[in-house]
Amino acid sequence: MSEGTAPGRLLGEGLAGRGVICTGGAGGIGRAVCRQFALAGARVLVVDRDEAACREVAGDLPGSGHEPFAADLSDPHAAASLPEAAEERLGSCDVLVHMAAVLLRKPLGEVSEADWDLQTEVNLKATFFLARAAGDLMRRRGRGGRVVLFASQAWWTGGYGGSVVYAAGKGGVVSLARGLAREYGPDGITVNTVAPGSVDTPMLRTGLAPEVLDGVLEATPLRRLGTPEEIATATLFLASDNASFISGATLNVSGGWLAY
Ligand SMILES: NC(=O)c1ccc[n+]([C@@H]2O[C@H](COP(=O)([O-])OP(=O)(O)OC[C@H]3O[C@@H](n4cnc5c(N)ncnc54)[C@H](O)[C@@H]3O)[C@@H](O)[C@H]2O)c1
Repeated sequence: MSEGTAPGRLLGEGLAGRGVICTGGAGGIGRAVCRQFALAGARVLVVDRDEAACREVAGDLPGSGHEPFAADLSDPHAAASLPEAAEERLGSCDVLVHMAAVLLRKPLGEVSEADWDLQTEVNLKATFFLARAAGDLMRRRGRGGRVVLFASQAWWTGGYGGSVVYAAGKGGVVSLARGLAREYGPDGITVNTVAPGSVDTPMLRTGLAPEVLDGVLEATPLRRLGTPEEIATATLFLASDNASFISGATLNVSGGWLAY
């Protein structure tokens, strides 16, 4: 990836022809993110649990060279082997966008050890093994790279509507990104985090009482939910040449709800 700025740049500058892993690519935000990268001319590895869903998303993307890839990221070995699989299928692995996550909303007293394990395995453990494998591969190839991880408003607020465990994992993602930014920076690899506020996807609405959401909207200056496309453009920016001097950052995309 190159450095510096030039007038008239496109949002996805530098991404044409790049190989991009998008985990959670069949999800609400993931689909929009895959599309933005495809529109920027990148080749996208659409990673999710369900093979048919990955195929459907990859098949609908503009451009060429996209590939579906089914993987269960609760298995750390599956997570760690993704970057090499991406390189094999796409020709290179230049960008990792890791969006796959699980949110099990429950009253605090009902959270079981199994709930803790599943959310922590996917949201935090997989993030470490996947991001490390991607950073190491990019370092070996010597061309720099971009890692974009996904946190949430929950990393800052501690979560709402029964999401304390999820919030703890997302807090871990922010710390992880900061540490990895320091580790891989000397190799020209940036590591950043997108922290969406409330975005209209099934993950947001599942198990959430409508009055809780109303309260969030009232506290949000823009008075509406975000769209997956609004998260996708923020993600594309962090992966592009435009963000060449940004690393270790957490990009708050919450419509003004959280001011940091
Ligand atoms: N929607 C929101 O309001 C919101 C807010 C803050 C943060 N986020 C974050 O944005 C990202 C995308 O969320 P979304 O709203 O699109 O949710 P979503 O549930 O629509 O998408 C998540 C995707 O991750 C996949 N996934 C889950 N477990 C997996 C596993 N073990 N292996 C492989 N894939 C797995 C799911 O199949 C799903 O397609 C997540 O990291 C989420 O935490 C979302």
